[in-house]
Amino acid sequence: MSNSWHDIIREDELSEGEIHATIKNGWHIFLINLDGEIRVWNDRCPHAASHLSTGRIRRGAVMCPLHGARFELKSGRCIGGTYSDLITFEHRNQDGMISVLLPDRSPTMAELPISPPG
Ligand code: FES
Repeated sequence: MSNSWHDIIREDELSEGEIHATIKNGWHIFLINLDGEIRVWNDRCPHAASHLSTGRIRRGAVMCPLHGARFELKSGRCIGGTYSDLITFEHRNQDGMISVLLPDRSPTMAELPISPPG
């Protein structure tokens, strides 16, 4: 399986503790800066595929907006629940530009979030 780097955001545009969500090459991802360390996650709750990037952040965890599962943002681990860990992606910082390594293939249905009801 091949992967490619995608430029996402400049480091100085990613404020401490804020989520930056985007779609690249069909992948829904979100980045967060936690104490100066960047984490990159697939923007899909492992329970029922909600967008986690719209969830509330509290005490280093994001709460799923649909049913309230919590995921530790440093590890992607589900806290107090039995759902799978979040899918993470490798990132790099070159001259202040944060890039993410994403599969060249399209995400499967099991890797895509559902759209919120409109
Ligand atoms: S979809 Fe996230 S807890 Fe149910």
